[in-house]
Amino acid sequence: MKKIGVLTSGGDSPGMNAAIRAVVRKGISLGMEVYGIQRGYEGLLDGEINKMEWSSVGDILQRGGTILRTARSERFRTEEGQEHAVKMLETFGLEGIVVIGGDGSFKGGLELDRRGIKVMGVPGTIDNDLGYTDFTIGFDTAVNTVLSLISNGRDTSSAHERATIIEVMGRNCGDIALHAGLTGGADVILIPEVETDINKVCIQVLKGQQSGKLHSLIVKAEGVKISTGELTEILEDRTGRETRAVVPGYIQRGGTPTEKDRMLASLMATKATQLLFDDADSKAVGIVGSEIIAYDLKDALAMKREFNRDIYELAEILS
Ligand code: F6P
Repeated sequence: MKKIGVLTSGGDSPGMNAAIRAVVRKGISLGMEVYGIQRGYEGLLDGEINKMEWSSVGDILQRGGTILRTARSERFRTEEGQEHAVKMLETFGLEGIVVIGGDGSFKGGLELDRRGIKVMGVPGTIDNDLGYTDFTIGFDTAVNTVLSLISNGRDTSSAHERATIIEVMGRNCGDIALHAGLTGGADVILIPEVETDINKVCIQVLKGQQSGKLHSLIVKAEGVKISTGELTEILEDRTGRETRAVVPGYIQRGGTPTEKDRMLASLMATKATQLLFDDADSKAVGIVGSEIIAYDLKDALAMKREFNRDIYELAEILS
């Protein structure tokens, strides 16, 4: 392969820039031309495609967000849109692309693959919700951001002897809540994978109060059915402990990527670029244990995410 493209799509995640940098520099070092596609599939449809040089990706390794920008493209979801996207790739002479994003972006990639375009998926999402890989790029940074918020929340919560609920992102996956909750010492972790038992939550808070805990910390994933407002009211009503809710929202999606996310991004994106150079069939790159792997794109998307019950149970024991 001589000419390849790279795009970022869906919700941005810290480390996407490190991945773009690796694609561009690895591609050039293999003698290929690398084109940056702006605003994900939206920019592809509009032909916003520019050649990237070694220097195009200078000074971005440490930055959150994505220099290529990103979008969730409605137009690309249609048959017509997908055919137009292929025409655009042909117009620019791009034989394959690296798609950095989550499962929606990979599904889009699969549609391009069906139309003869080689697509290498690199998992960029804070949600860590892809079944085939242990970790996605951005997850570690998001967890560390939430950890720092938990720590701030604990200070003020203790000072006022309050309960604090922190609602974190993750769509239908509880991994951000689970990891930040365990390592941040939350009293209660609520995730979509485990049905919420409101009585249990209240008992846990009461127990903490009775044992002299100055604060109660509840980390709740956004995918949990009960709303944060409702939970706040129930807790206050039943435990008598003043309760405040915090929803950091998009703040947890930005920020400078951690070493782990930069390393993951560099390794995975390098692998994806090499696969395009080798003219391999479409794949999703990931990490299993400490090994960088690449599975057939379709198979990878079909793999169900296994929730780590051991971590959940450990968090309950240690809280
Ligand atoms: O997929 C990343 C994510 O931040 C999810 O955690 C969240 O549910 C969603 O994106 C928010 O999407 P949007 O940026 O479109 O509001």
